[in-house]
Amino acid sequence: MSVVRANGIDQHVLVQGEGAPILFVHGFPLDHTMWRWQVGRFTRSHRVIAPDLRGFGQTPAGPDKVSMELFADDLAALLDELHVAEPVVLCGLSMGGYIAWQFVRRHRHRLAGLVLCDTRATADTPEIQQNRSQTAEHVLASGTATLAESIPGKLFSAETSERQPQLIDETKKVILRTSPQGIAAAALGMADRADMTNLLPEIDIPTLVVVGADDQLTPPAEMQQLADAIPGAEFVVIENAGHMAPLESAGKFNLAMQQFLDRVPTV
Ligand code: MLT
Repeated sequence: MSVVRANGIDQHVLVQGEGAPILFVHGFPLDHTMWRWQVGRFTRSHRVIAPDLRGFGQTPAGPDKVSMELFADDLAALLDELHVAEPVVLCGLSMGGYIAWQFVRRHRHRLAGLVLCDTRATADTPEIQQNRSQTAEHVLASGTATLAESIPGKLFSAETSERQPQLIDETKKVILRTSPQGIAAAALGMADRADMTNLLPEIDIPTLVVVGADDQLTPPAEMQQLADAIPGAEFVVIENAGHMAPLESAGKFNLAMQQFLDRVPTV
């Protein structure tokens, strides 16, 4: 991992390989390690950039609420500091997708393509917003142990839980070592995020939309609608996977991503 001072914080980031850049943006409440199978695969042909977002992994937290806009600006500043001049393919999962919408709005010229995994464009319902503030209060008061127990079961398919239990254990460990401040700030930022549905028809860069067939959080039917709204977007359903398709079914995910990358014009 490198430490790069960008947008006023020390961002911890894995940078490996040579070639057209791919920026991997992790989900909540995780870190760059969720992309390990993609880092291993695409380092052979690309410059892979996989940061720990503000307040996650080893990157310090702050402020108390982090908007999706601030996360997107952190990433743009990181690319500046890494002297990445050419447009990147941004691959974001779930919260990483929420951040991708803001990256499109604010830093469109830096994008060669988008890979949107297990995410949504709509805002939170009042009920989900309420849950997020309870989560924030709870982790700040009592730490991340309850979340570490409850979240992995929702992220992974039942089949993954049975056949790859180590993924559940590793994810629990990631959440246990994540800063409560980072989790609270991102939860409050997600609760405040705007509905980005109107952005979708304006996206004019090559886009791949990917979802696990058994994703309960952002189900395939919802992701299909999202893909239909983005002009020319490709839509791929990954069998034997839930919300964490790139981790649960890495071979199938990497194949879909490779086929997409082969079609993305690089500058
Ligand atoms: C994620 O995986 O990033 C979360 O499911 C996002 C969310 O809580 O909306």
